[in-house]
Parts: sequence; C-alpha cells; structure tokens
Amino acid sequence: MAFNLKNRSFLKEIDFEPRELRYLLRLSEALKLAKYAGTETKGLSGKEIALIFEKTSTRTRSAFEVAAYDQGAHVTYLDPSGSQLGHKESIADTAAVLGRMYDAIEFRGNGQADVEELAAHAGVPVYNGLTDEWHPTQMLADFLTMHEESHQPYDKIAYAFVGDCRFNMGRSLLVMGALMGSDVRLAGPAELHPPKDVVDIATDIAGRTGARITVTEDPGEAVSGVDFIHTDVWVSMGEAKDVWAERVRILKPYQVNAGLLEKSGNPAVKFMHCLPAYHDTNTVVGREIMEHTGMTSGLEVTGEVFNSGASIVFEQAENRLHTIKAILVATLG
Ligand code: CP
Ligand code: NVA
Repeated sequence: MAFNLKNRSFLKEIDFEPRELRYLLRLSEALKLAKYAGTETKGLSGKEIALIFEKTSTRTRSAFEVAAYDQGAHVTYLDPSGSQLGHKESIADTAAVLGRMYDAIEFRGNGQADVEELAAHAGVPVYNGLTDEWHPTQMLADFLTMHEESHQPYDKIAYAFVGDCRFNMGRSLLVMGALMGSDVRLAGPAELHPPKDVVDIATDIAGRTGARITVTEDPGEAVSGVDFIHTDVWVSMGEAKDVWAERVRILKPYQVNAGLLEKSGNPAVKFMHCLPAYHDTNTVVGREIMEHTGMTSGLEVTGEVFNSGASIVFEQAENRLHTIKAILVATLG
C-alpha cells in the first residue's frame, strides 16, 4: 500500500482519509518500537519547525520538541508573548514570513479559522496543536492507546466521552471515531452537545465506515458495554473563569467516578483523559473550585479513578510523542 502524506497539513481529523489515519497509527507504532529498541534513525535532519503556542501546553509542546530532536530536526518555540502574531502582525503576514524560514509550523490557538488562515498562507505543512474546535494530534494518541490496550482493531473498539461534548475533545473524539469505524458514545447535558453540523459530519462519515454514533444526556447509557471512558476538563483554556459555577452544576452528574465505571458493566473498562485533569487539590484552580463546590474527591474525575488500575492516562500522554513524530515523519521525512 503506497502512502504519500508529504507536505500535507493536519488541521482537523477529516483532512485525512481513514486509510491515511491508519497508516499514521501504524507508523506511530513502528517509531515507538524503534525508540524503545534504540534503532531509531533520524529522518528529519536539517528540518526546521516553528511551534506557535497562543495557549499554554505541557504535552503537545514537549511531544513536538522531543519528536523533532529524536529525528534530527530543530524547533523554535514561540510563546504567546514571544512573537508579533495577533497583536502587531496578522496571521497571513506571519505565515508568509515563517513559511520562508521553516519547513513546517505547529499552531495552538483559539479559533479554527486562525490555523486554517495560517495554513492558507504558509506554503508549508501546518499542524493544529489544539483549537477550540479540534485537537487532531491528540486523536492519534488516543486511538493508538485504545488499540494497544484493547488489542482490538479500531472498528471493534467502543468508547464513551462524558462531559463537555461541544468543545475540542468531545468533537474530535466524535469525528475521529466516525472515521475509524468505532462505536462512539457522547454524553453530556443537552446545552453542551456538539453542534448539529458536527454531529451531521460524524453521522455522514459513519454511513461510509460502519461507525456507530450515540449522543445522549444519559451517562449510564453512554458507558454501557464500552471498553474506554474518556473525559476532559469542564472549563477549557480561553473560557471565562466565571462559567465554572454553572459548569459544575450541570456537569456534576457526568463526573467519572467508581459508580460510572461500574455502569459500563465491563470490569476491564479503562479511563482516559487528554490531561491536564482536576482530580485533586494539588493545582491552584482545582483547589479553588473544589473548595467552592465541596467536590472534594475531584471534578471531572475522582482521584480514586484517576489513580486506579483502570487509568491509562499516562500511557495516553506518552503516545502524544510517538504519534506526533509519525505526523512529522510522514509529512516532512
Ligand atoms: N493534552 C494536551 O494537549 O496537553 P497539553 O495542553 O499539555 O499540551
Ligand atoms: N478542552 C481542553 C483540552 C486541553 C488539552 C482545553 O481546550 O483546555
């Protein structure tokens, strides 16, 4: 099977066909094995990659940097205050400049329109490192992790996402699952369901791939019989602090706790979270919200579940590295 993803951008999941996503996942597995075996070869020597972060990051930035170094490429990190982007220079002008110096650009920001604009003017591959709408690089890590943990082909995997389904993680898990032919269930309050156009995209893709799509308000229905339960923070980066109180009120029934895991009916069910997570009082925000709401055992997930044998969040986080490396190798190598 021939795959040529050279010079392709990755702005959202539907930029790639299912067979291309499967190829990236196989390449991720190969690169992971090569790193573990000490047989990795540098396929990106001499490549220069710009990393633009308008929002903070631990995993995505680290994964891009380590992946690039492992493969012999160099990176420049531009933080929210470290460039003219947005305040003194337009996205289009920034793209034209960086495109002349770099072989590829990673961008994390607010709106999807910004990363699309960057890609339209850069003339080099652009990777979406998270927008409010999509988190495509995270999806490769999540699917690799589910495949490794379940030993199942992607179209045999059943998973639920519970919580804020209208933001990047809920939307991406919906559409990626549709592309991969999985059994995808989303549960959250109706006002936090993904917009109709996103559900329509997923339903349309599911018609071609055989995916099963469920969007419900009932967390118990969503998790019944699944292999994996995902969640995400209840208030995302860029959202106003004052939405916390209302979010906690409407999302409380969707907390991932021991009772919800039990409702899956699957004693081997695994817990996943893109991280960072509010599961204890060891963060400033987590402590403040937990003290205010009395939810002392955790917010979107309890400490009990987060720290249990069911939790595979750190395997998931590690896979950010191997999957982002696959994207770089496939598009630039
Ligand atoms: N999951 C994720 O994107 O983590 P960071 O925000 O730390 O990059
Ligand atoms: N929904 C979260 C994901 C973080 C990786 C956010 O956008 O803040």
